[in-house]
Amino acid sequence: MSRAAVTSTPINPVLANRWSPRSYDATKSLTTADLAASFEAARWSPSANNNQEWRYIVGFRGDATFEAIAGTLAGWNTAWAPNAGALVVAIAETTNAEGQANPYALYDLGQSVAHFSVQAHNDGLYVHQVAGTDVDALKATFNLPANWDAFVAFTVGHLADADALPEPLAEREKAPRTRRDLNETVFYGAF
Ligand SMILES: Cc1cc2nc3c(=O)[nH]c(=O)nc-3n(C[C@H](O)[C@H](O)[C@H](O)COP(=O)(O)O)c2cc1C
Repeated sequence: MSRAAVTSTPINPVLANRWSPRSYDATKSLTTADLAASFEAARWSPSANNNQEWRYIVGFRGDATFEAIAGTLAGWNTAWAPNAGALVVAIAETTNAEGQANPYALYDLGQSVAHFSVQAHNDGLYVHQVAGTDVDALKATFNLPANWDAFVAFTVGHLADADALPEPLAEREKAPRTRRDLNETVFYGAF
């Protein structure tokens, strides 16, 4: 079954076909080389004043970093995310060295993760961002300085069959992907 976005006009096929699975193939592993292009894409994301506030902490399934990240997952995320080949924590420098807030740190971090996800999909890998994780525990676990914060974790891995998931996750995996209409999203004139 296609998970491709139903678009009102054709878009880049990688963007149309990217989606966030929960069914990962736990028999397949990832290496730093597998993620290199995706992290290059993340690195080359734009940011306010070119501040590049983002950083990434990466664990591969089976290593201690992966276990530490997996231990902070909440709710249903514990049922599927540990099958991914990699768990990544997305962190940002929210206050700079002069003690001034970086107001665009979170915006820039999200954009960098988006670049990662598109490149990963291009390379045959699947990314699923996860806010359902204990970000305070991540900050403590990885000894982040006071001016750095963890915001999300994300999974990277190879896709497995949706029916490998327990319910209700298998059903959700096959549910149609939806979005608000374009004419309710973009305004040419007054909002
Ligand atoms: C910041 C962020 C946090 C998310 N947190 C979770 C999460 O904790 N658990 C989960 O199953 N999905 C999570 N998602 C995935 C979204 O539900 C998913 O991206 C959305 O439903 C659109 O689906 P698609 O990515 O397949 O187009 C998160 C996505 C983002 C961008």
